[in-house]
Amino acid sequence: MKENSRRGFMGKAFGAVAGLGAIGSLVAMKKSWDPLPSVKAAGFTTLDMSIYEEGVMVTEKWRGKPIFVLKKTPEMMKDEEGNPEAQARNIKVGNDNFMIAIGLCTHLGCIPAFRKDKGDFLCACHGGMFSASGLVTKVPPPRGFDIPPFKIDGNKLLLGEVGPEYQAMKDNGVTL
Ligand code: FES
Repeated sequence: MKENSRRGFMGKAFGAVAGLGAIGSLVAMKKSWDPLPSVKAAGFTTLDMSIYEEGVMVTEKWRGKPIFVLKKTPEMMKDEEGNPEAQARNIKVGNDNFMIAIGLCTHLGCIPAFRKDKGDFLCACHGGMFSASGLVTKVPPPRGFDIPPFKIDGNKLLLGEVGPEYQAMKDNGVTL
């Protein structure tokens, strides 16, 4: 191999190695930009819906927000009869019916309290009230509780994932 062509070959080889090195560092940089697997998983909360008791309101957490989970009693279901707005917010998992909502008042964001004896929610900040299905029964809240994205998977509810039931609620204006 002549001196010139050897230099040319070495130059190309070096260029190829340098190119691979650059791709390698880009991959490394991209990896460092991507969220850690635990952070990605933190966007979801899986609830086992078989553990809740009828009429007992439980506050879960999703993305730092309180999530109200209320397994409805037969009386609550009866109250919803003839009220399509309330029925449209019902989330059915297996044979059970739930109110699941972001537990923040849609007025100014206080956390309303569940009143077990009345089966409704009272926001102490300005007196707003919500029914067991999450609809406003007393202003000033401008709308019912917002419903978080959810996907039903057997007995489980995956918060943070959009399933067909949630999509239908969005499409029908049941939640924002
Ligand atoms: S924040 Fe709930 S009524 Fe004002």
